[in-house]
Amino acid sequence: MESKQQKKKINWKLVGTVTFGVRRYFVLGSAAVLLAALTAYAIPLITSFTVDYVIAGEKLQTMPSVVYGWAEKIGGRDYLRSNIHIMALILIAAALLNGVFTFIRGRSVALASEGIAKVIRDTLYRHLQAVPYDYHKHSSTGDLVQRCTSDVDTIRRFVGVQLLEIVRTVAMLIVALIIMFSMHAFMALITTAALPVLFLSSFVYFRKVRKQFTLSDEAEGKISSTLQENLTGVRVVRAFGQQGSEIEKFTRCNAEYRDVTFKLIKMLGFYWGLTDILAYGQICITLVAGVILSVTDGFTLGQVMVFTAYAGMLTWPVRQMGRILADLGKATVSLERIDEILSHPAETEPGKALKPVIKGEIEFKNVCFGYDAYDDVLKDISFKACPGQTIAILGSTGSGKTSLVQLLQRLYTCTAGEIIIDGVNINDIDHRLLRSNIGIVLQEPFLYSRTIRENISIVKPDASDEEVYNAAKIAAVHDVIESFEKKYDTVVGERGVTLSGGQKQRVAIARMLMQNAPILIFDDSMSAVDTETDAAIREALNKRRKSSTTFIISHRITTLCEADNILVLDGGRLVQQGKHEELLKVDGLYARIAGIQNMLEQELNGGGVKSEHRDQGTGI
Ligand code: UTP
Ligand code: MG
Repeated sequence: MESKQQKKKINWKLVGTVTFGVRRYFVLGSAAVLLAALTAYAIPLITSFTVDYVIAGEKLQTMPSVVYGWAEKIGGRDYLRSNIHIMALILIAAALLNGVFTFIRGRSVALASEGIAKVIRDTLYRHLQAVPYDYHKHSSTGDLVQRCTSDVDTIRRFVGVQLLEIVRTVAMLIVALIIMFSMHAFMALITTAALPVLFLSSFVYFRKVRKQFTLSDEAEGKISSTLQENLTGVRVVRAFGQQGSEIEKFTRCNAEYRDVTFKLIKMLGFYWGLTDILAYGQICITLVAGVILSVTDGFTLGQVMVFTAYAGMLTWPVRQMGRILADLGKATVSLERIDEILSHPAETEPGKALKPVIKGEIEFKNVCFGYDAYDDVLKDISFKACPGQTIAILGSTGSGKTSLVQLLQRLYTCTAGEIIIDGVNINDIDHRLLRSNIGIVLQEPFLYSRTIRENISIVKPDASDEEVYNAAKIAAVHDVIESFEKKYDTVVGERGVTLSGGQKQRVAIARMLMQNAPILIFDDSMSAVDTETDAAIREALNKRRKSSTTFIISHRITTLCEADNILVLDGGRLVQQGKHEELLKVDGLYARIAGIQNMLEQELNGGGVKSEHRDQGTGI
């Protein structure tokens, strides 16, 4: 039932696409597999011919007459016997040919499987860049990484090892059966008697132990996630003195992994041991039957050797095939998991994808928005911003400030109302053009694990040193960078751990400035910067951004008070808007917050503490 369901879900179009460029390698690989099987089986036959004809002088009925014809042509049995090295050379040639075909098989398979894995990884990566932002927000990064790596690897292994192994086993079986039955039907039956048992036992067994394999995979996954969590949260672990319990947790996961894997290895050992007995039993029976037949039925020594060799050559691949067939479901599941990502529609243009020149005139007209249909996060928002104006947004946490600027980037589409930028509905603007015209400093800036220079000039890789320094100077981070040993070539650690929170924010501001965009957004991006630096940055920005429409989200009245328009959000509603002085005159949320912050500032100053307070104390 389960496998039927999985089969239905295979996306053949996807299979066709990813195998498109490498199909010729499959054909070449399959041909090489067949030729390798033929040469492998020829070796015992050549030995048999040498033993029976060249040494003992017996002509076998079962050997094609063309072989004897060839022997007569080069001088007959006597000539071959006195020049036995000819037989040795033929054997070596067969072995060499076998090696060449095996190499071609390995090469074709590697080209096919690595080629497929590359195409899948590229397609996945490209698609992940194209899916809407919302998709990433709702997906687990770990899961996506796993799909792009280990699921792709499962398919690579299936194509690279398992698929051709099936072809090889089938080819070997067919060739061996034809040769053996043409030589001696009864002996052929005896030689292959244990094969169905071996095949079925491995198939049934590996289906049964699949659960143990899954348990082992899961236990390994648990170890890596525990490790990852510990390393990412290293500060919390140290700060709360959690090392002891963390070690205990890891030891537990580690022991579980050891136990599960040990059990699996024990089960496998038992199986391989048991079936080895069966396989060697098969060889023994073939040998004994051959010896008996040589007495009763004129069976030759060479023939006994051929059948014994074939018995040995067939048991391993047949056992392996049972295992592969039992494992087939894994590749199907991986393909399905990959298809799940690829079938998610890429970000589309809902409108005309126009490319207007963006100057920064923005109008929100009765905009409503919700992440889900039944709960609006922004309700009936209307305001206007002219090019060059500064719009400040104030509101308690969760009031919808970040959501509002995300609408401006069209990471989400508003559910009602419209946003007009320079006279064009935002839905009609090409989303790449729109975003390239908006510079944003995120609430939690992300820096790449590269040098500071690369981080700042990421949107303009050919920027001159002067431009980079200027941006860093405006963001008040130039002196800090200069104080580092490697200055601008300092590599920012993973997720920027070598920089302080405020330094990171300022590097992110410098990066945004390089974009020279007509619309700038600062999403609470001075929260980790002290008030004086905040003021210095704003002053430097004021000198530069005359032509940019700027949105500043902040909890700090001192940051907002110079804005041309202040939007006060409360529970997703725009409850007040206006200039600082106007809003102070009205008894409302803004005046209350300003009052509290003013009082706090005075208290701090009165108490001799420098005004470096952050906003937590104000409760907004
Ligand atoms: P915002 O993220 O817009 O709030 O979320 P904010 O004003 O910027 O808050 P701070 O100051 O940064 O903390 C507004 C509402 O939208 C919900 C949040 O739970 C919040 O109630 N939300 C946000 C979602 O439902 N889904 C999201 O992906 C993000
Ligand atoms: Mg926010």
